[in-house]
Amino acid sequence: MGLHTQELRKTAQSLIAPGKGILAMDESNGTCNKRFKAVGIPAAEEYRQAYRQLIVTTPNLSNYIGGTILYDETLRQSTQDGVPFLKFIAEAGMIPGIKVDTGAKDLAGHPGEKVTEGLDGLRDRIAEYYQMGARFAKWRAVITIGEGIPSRACLEANAHGLARYAALCQEGGLMPIVEPEVLINGDHTLERCAQVTDETLHRLFNQLYTQDVAFDQMVLKPSMVIAGQDCPQQSSVDAVAEATINCLLKNVPATVAGVAFLSGGQSAEQAAAHLNAMNKQFGKQCPWRVTFSYARAIQQPALEYWGGDSSRVAEAQQRLLHRAKCNSAASQGEYSSQMEQEKAAVLA
Ligand code: 13P
Repeated sequence: MGLHTQELRKTAQSLIAPGKGILAMDESNGTCNKRFKAVGIPAAEEYRQAYRQLIVTTPNLSNYIGGTILYDETLRQSTQDGVPFLKFIAEAGMIPGIKVDTGAKDLAGHPGEKVTEGLDGLRDRIAEYYQMGARFAKWRAVITIGEGIPSRACLEANAHGLARYAALCQEGGLMPIVEPEVLINGDHTLERCAQVTDETLHRLFNQLYTQDVAFDQMVLKPSMVIAGQDCPQQSSVDAVAEATINCLLKNVPATVAGVAFLSGGQSAEQAAAHLNAMNKQFGKQCPWRVTFSYARAIQQPALEYWGGDSSRVAEAQQRLLHRAKCNSAASQGEYSSQMEQEKAAVLA
C-alpha cells in the first residue's frame, strides 16, 4: 500500500459523496480572460480575484460541491479580507484542488491534434501544492474528431501523459482527476463520438494499468458521448445517456472511485438533463458514482449576470448556487425541468 493510500481514497470519496460534485474553476488566465471578454469584463488580475471570490464565498455551496479545482494564480490569492482562498475553501467544507497540466500544445507531425504538456518538474510542483493544502489535481487531455483524426499517435501520447501524471499525483498525495476530453466541436455524429470515446478510454486505461495507477484512488472526468455541435442530427437526451453509459461500462473498471463529467460547451440545462438521465435510467447498473465536474455549466449564468459589477455579487451567487443544486439533484436522478422554473420564481 502506498504512503497516501488511505488519504487518497478518502479524498476521492468526499469529493463525490452522494449529492456532491466538483466545481471546476481552474481556467488558466488566458481562458478566464477569454470568458471575461465575451461578457465585457476587463482582463485583469483584480477581476479574476473578485470573480473567484464571488464563487467560493457563495453561501451553502458545500451542500452540493465536494471540492473546487483552482488554477495556480487563484491558489496563491486571498479573499479581500486576507483569507487565502485555499483556507477559505477548506473551512467552508470543500476540498481544494489544482490544475497541474500546462496546456494542450500542437502534436508534432500531426496537424490539428494536441498533446497535453506539464510532466517536467511535476513531482516538485505536486509537493508544493500538497504542502500548501491542495488535496487533488487535474490534468486535461484534448482529443479532436475530424477527417482522419484522432490518430493513434494522439490517443497514445495523451493517454501516456495522463497515466504518468496520475502516478506522480498518487505518489505525492494528490488524488488525480484524469480528464480525457473528446471535443464537441465539429459535425460528427453521436456514433462517431461513441467510437472515438471508446478508443480513447480503452487506450487510457491500458496506460493507467501499465503505470500502476490505483483505480480506487482516482476519479475519471470524461466527456459525454454526444453529436458534434455542428452535426445536423442532434442527439436526444436519452440517446446521450445510453451511449455514454454503454461506453463507460465497457471501458471503466468497477474499482475506479468515481466518474465526474465535464460539460464541454453544452448548455447549463442540457448538462443537467444528460447527467440526470444517466443516473435515473442506468444508475443501478453503474458500479461507480456518476456525477459532475462542470465549469461552464455551473458558472456561466452567474458570470453573465455579474459582469464585473460588485452590486450584483449576491444575486450572481444565487444563480451559481442554483446550478450547483440542479446538478446535485441530477447526480441522484432527481432533477426535473421544474427546478428551472423554481429559479425563475426566486429570481423574479
Ligand atoms: P467545462 O465543464 O466548461 O467543460 O469545463 C470542465 C473542465 O474542467 C475543463 O477542463
